[in-house]
Amino acid sequence: MTDGPLVLGVETSCDETGVGIVRGQRLLADAVASSVDEHARFGGVVPEVASRAHLEAMVPTIERACREAGIRLADLDAIAVTAGPGLAGALLVGVAAAKSLAVALGKPLYGVNHLAAHVAVDIVEHGPLPEPTLAMLVSGGHSSLLLVPDVTADVRSLGSTIDDAAGEAFDKVARVLGLPFPGGPHVDRVATEGNSAFVLFPRGLTSGRDMERHRFDFSFSGLKTSVARWVEARERAGEPVPVADVAASFQEAVVDVLTRKAVLACREHGVDDLLIGGGVAANTRLRAMAQERCDAAGIRLRVPRPGLCTDNGAMVAALGAEMVARGRAPSALDIPADSSMPVTLVRA
Ligand code: KG4
Ligand code: ZN
Repeated sequence: MTDGPLVLGVETSCDETGVGIVRGQRLLADAVASSVDEHARFGGVVPEVASRAHLEAMVPTIERACREAGIRLADLDAIAVTAGPGLAGALLVGVAAAKSLAVALGKPLYGVNHLAAHVAVDIVEHGPLPEPTLAMLVSGGHSSLLLVPDVTADVRSLGSTIDDAAGEAFDKVARVLGLPFPGGPHVDRVATEGNSAFVLFPRGLTSGRDMERHRFDFSFSGLKTSVARWVEARERAGEPVPVADVAASFQEAVVDVLTRKAVLACREHGVDDLLIGGGVAANTRLRAMAQERCDAAGIRLRVPRPGLCTDNGAMVAALGAEMVARGRAPSALDIPADSSMPVTLVRA
């Protein structure tokens, strides 16, 4: 273990079958098979379809990761797996695969929290995490602000969405605008041609009263409805919908609230480092506005490259390796797949 522990991580919480291999803080392999195309015609992830796709992809993806890393399974020091939160049936496939590997190889098993893994992945991209780090996770399934004194043991929730996740709002608005699923990248793309001040859409939970009760929470459902109403009104009037302008205006509203609350959380908790992760962190406007506002507030910003922001196995391996390196105890071999695993529980 001279260069740190060699850990294989398995991720199956949603529609990506991810297998990553990390040695210490170095990424050796990141193999991902996605079933996203199979869900496209339903306009959202279908759990049963995702579970079956994980079953089919699991062994080939493990083999691909080992080839990429140039290692044999017998070389591993530990197996890590997303134990939750996520789709129950999807999680089960990964947890069962990881348990089988751990038992067959006689190696320790680490069942880890998907959200903590989204934070830990930046270790293999930008080096050790400052302690504490403030993390904002924005994806199709979650939108959370986390205070992270120690990603292997101490993750605290400051707030989260009270309705739709940020990525979910992108996907639903994309649908209203006639763009394909998943909509985030399409909204991002067409928004570059649009005027972000064309419509002033509502900024959820930012008014005085809401800032008292939901200081670091998010709400995107009202915004989504507001965009849908605006588009319907245009269509009823027989006028063309300016898709690029609406996309840009919607995106601006989401990104404004996200960055405003993230910077406020850093300030109020005295944290100088903000990390943004999850699929929506790939958004170009989010990256730009976060950078501007962090620069103005004297906060250092870390955003992993897009491939490490979306769900992958490397993030699970990265957190597992950190746990082994810090001497954290492994999980029991009978851990369940926990679809509603609380964010404060870093390891099952
Ligand atoms: O992290 P992720 O791959 O899976 C979940 O855990 O949900 O995130 C997927 C989400 C989708 O909602 C997708 O539309 C959104 O991330 N997304 C984006 C962009 N790329 C992906 N949203 C906005 N802008 C993007 N460029
Ligand atoms: Zn995720």
